[in-house]
Amino acid sequence: MKVGIDALGVAVPSLCLDLEALAKARGVDPKKYLDGIGTWRMGVAPLDEDTVTLAARAASMAMKSGEASGDDIGLLVVGTETAVDHSKPVSSYVQGLLGIGQRCRVFETKHACYGGTAALMMALDWLRSGSARGRKALVVCSDIARYGLNTPGEPTQGAGAVALLVSEAPRLLELDPALTGQHATDVHDFWRPLYSKDAFVDGPYSVQCYLDAITGAYRHFREQAPWVTADDFAALAYHVPYGKMARKAHRQLRALDGDLNPDASFDAQVAASLALPAQVGNVYTGSLYLALASLLATSSRDLDGQRVGLFSYGSGSCAEFFAGSVVPGAQARVKALELQALLDAREVLTIEAYEALMAAREATDLKPLERARGDAFHFLGVEAHKRTYAGPSA
Ligand SMILES: CC(C)(COP(=O)(O)OP(=O)(O)OC[C@H]1O[C@@H](n2cnc3c(N)ncnc32)[C@H](O)[C@@H]1OP(=O)(O)O)[C@@H](O)C(=O)NCCC(=O)NCCS
Repeated sequence: MKVGIDALGVAVPSLCLDLEALAKARGVDPKKYLDGIGTWRMGVAPLDEDTVTLAARAASMAMKSGEASGDDIGLLVVGTETAVDHSKPVSSYVQGLLGIGQRCRVFETKHACYGGTAALMMALDWLRSGSARGRKALVVCSDIARYGLNTPGEPTQGAGAVALLVSEAPRLLELDPALTGQHATDVHDFWRPLYSKDAFVDGPYSVQCYLDAITGAYRHFREQAPWVTADDFAALAYHVPYGKMARKAHRQLRALDGDLNPDASFDAQVAASLALPAQVGNVYTGSLYLALASLLATSSRDLDGQRVGLFSYGSGSCAEFFAGSVVPGAQARVKALELQALLDAREVLTIEAYEALMAAREATDLKPLERARGDAFHFLGVEAHKRTYAGPSA
């Protein structure tokens, strides 16, 4: 049975920050952020956008692109590490906002940036098990990556969501869930205690944990498919907390194959997958899938029928290396989403406005209810301890 990604949707907040301006404000050489980190813009969510609204927007785009109705969905999972409630899942809000039917499994998954991949793998198994009975799965990865002002992680923030419609007739990427490599360890490289809105991270250690994880996951993959080498992939998409990390990952993966000049293959195999992430920053669970969207939207090469390797990493940690084949016509379908125009439409913040927004976000958990605008999915506020949202009027 064929299974894989049938359609995708991307949502970014309406605001962003230029990292050159941030570098100047922090007294850092802009080249450190632009070249050393590899990001030049990061998404910043306004007060009426959060993990729920981003998830709803991305899911709405994926369903429209995949011509799926609410009743087609039998499994709705949101992978996130920045949920809005300790109990009620983001997926239930998305179900309500999108009018997804009641005969559906609806829940949230968490494992740092790996949570979306956990959901995707489970959706593929659900399809192959026969439980889907002709229905599709909607997997949404949605997060607001926040490290706090004046921290080393500050230039690696971002916000956004990627939704994947997963089906037995994939029109974008056919995936092979029976051939994957995993690597999991109990480490404290990145975490967010219950009392904090900002993540804590041991930056250099998190980089090392990521590299250890790609080593373990790729070796596990290769043990099952010893005939495969990195050269068999037309492209490789990595988890992208920031662009430079993908370059480090690529070097590590190619070195495991004995490649003494791993950078030589970077432009051909990886660069296209970083075009959109470099303008959005870290989106945690959605990072790998934004890289995949970027590859399909911006690569100038014909990828029809070509194999793509994918690497997902979640701190804490769990990682997976898996692979798929690009379905003919996939690039045209993703190009039609006009993702670059979505990014170009954002308003660029001044440093003062960005810092004011970061401070104001602290109070949004108790924001009084506002009136619905009717133009887009947005967060209205909290009443009787219930978060309330509105969508575009019909
Ligand atoms: C990524 C992170 C650790 C970087 O921290 P930092 O101590 O401020 O930055 P570094 O000194 O390591 O510099 C970052 C890069 O910019 C380069 N750089 C520094 N100044 C530069 C300049 N003027 N011009 C060009 N490059 C420059 C450094 O050489 C380094 O590149 P390298 O990693 O290839 O050596 C930090 O942003 C962080 O903690 N991020 C959050 C955690 C994260 O994303 N982890 C990833 C795994 S999940």
